[in-house]
Amino acid sequence: MSIKFNFENALINAHEYHYLKPVIEAAHKTLHAGDGPGNDYIGWVDYPSSFDLAEFERIKAAAKRINEMADVLIVIGIGGSYLGAKTVIDALTHTFYNELPKEKRKTAKIYFAGQNISSTYLSDLMEMVENESVCLNVISKSGTTTEPAIAFRVLKKALEKKYGVEEAKNRIFATTDAKSGALRTLATANGYETFVIPSNVGGRYSVITPVGLLPIATAGIDIDAFMAGAADGQTAFSNPNIDENPCYQYALMRNVLYNKGKAIEVLVNYEPSMAFLAEWWMQLYGESEGKDGKGIFPTKMNNTTDLHSMGQMIQDGPRHVFETVVRVEKVEKEIVLELEDNDLDGLNYLAGKTMSYVNENAFKGTLEAHVDGNVPNLVVTIEKLDAFNLGKLMYFFMKACGVSGYVLGVNPFDQPGVEAYKKNMFRLLGKK
Ligand code: PA5
Repeated sequence: MSIKFNFENALINAHEYHYLKPVIEAAHKTLHAGDGPGNDYIGWVDYPSSFDLAEFERIKAAAKRINEMADVLIVIGIGGSYLGAKTVIDALTHTFYNELPKEKRKTAKIYFAGQNISSTYLSDLMEMVENESVCLNVISKSGTTTEPAIAFRVLKKALEKKYGVEEAKNRIFATTDAKSGALRTLATANGYETFVIPSNVGGRYSVITPVGLLPIATAGIDIDAFMAGAADGQTAFSNPNIDENPCYQYALMRNVLYNKGKAIEVLVNYEPSMAFLAEWWMQLYGESEGKDGKGIFPTKMNNTTDLHSMGQMIQDGPRHVFETVVRVEKVEKEIVLELEDNDLDGLNYLAGKTMSYVNENAFKGTLEAHVDGNVPNLVVTIEKLDAFNLGKLMYFFMKACGVSGYVLGVNPFDQPGVEAYKKNMFRLLGKK
């Protein structure tokens, strides 16, 4: 099972690919030798083959316990502390997972909080779960991030009111740094069950750690298969031979295109269940590369929906865009279009065809149109959307991001710019 990367529509010359190969090779060496910028945050590179098995089993046991005692798990976190889990849950569960009857869903509903400071959002969420049995998984590496800290304070109070202080403690699971931060102090003081975000893994690279794994397992997803996919990616994408390594080819191509003035990369999907993958990918690349006045601006198109809103801009707007399409080869659920006697809607020409066939041709037609319009297109293909392939795909994007960042000449593992708004907000709020 492999990830395919096709760059035959990248609209570049062969020598441009070859010129960048030594640069990618150097970035590969730097990342694997651990002697580049941000090298204290590269624990994710070999995490899939070196994670703590005892903790992994404890995650599965905690997910089972949550599902036995609760109808709802509220995952509290922001940025890298929630995007990965939501991506995997959206991609691998039923499209209307939370709305399904319990007998069909089997596992707890998953809601997210602490990813904004909206009192409307939090009030509505609390109203929504008022009559349900609730557990919390609060996730913060630093343990001091304002958004999840506020949400946790409010939700913890509501839980204590509902179940009493002692039972509430039993329903709270904290994922944070092993030693430091307010959340670690709080968890220790209250005796919550805790899971560790390794200190050498940054938030946006943490989906393969307990940060992603506890919510993902609670949603009934096979985390063994997810980690097996990531481990397969770890092996496959460490191949220094660029011609055999699709991950490094992707890192290379996006840098070739950036050097040619393509400053915007659009991640395109044709499956609504993959829409959040783009949100995760945008944070991964945006926070890793947007530095020192450089970086490819990451954005997304959920097709074919967005072809009816942004399609015009891609086709005929400024030529500073390239697209990376994430394609799924085999779709699980099929609908065959039937023949109708009167054909009033004029769709009989599609009778006997599946919706996936129509979707696939929408992809092909769009790619052809955009390439004709001088928009380079890269295509990443996975065989099917399952835990193994998604684990591998997410590792693919993380590895390509680390390498791309080094090629760009930035530290892909820090995020100093995120502090600017916080500083101003704290001043305005009078934080001491
Ligand atoms: O990728 C990152 O490092 C950030 O997006 C963080 O995940 C985000 O800011 C949340 O931080 P924390 O987990 O410390 O609350």
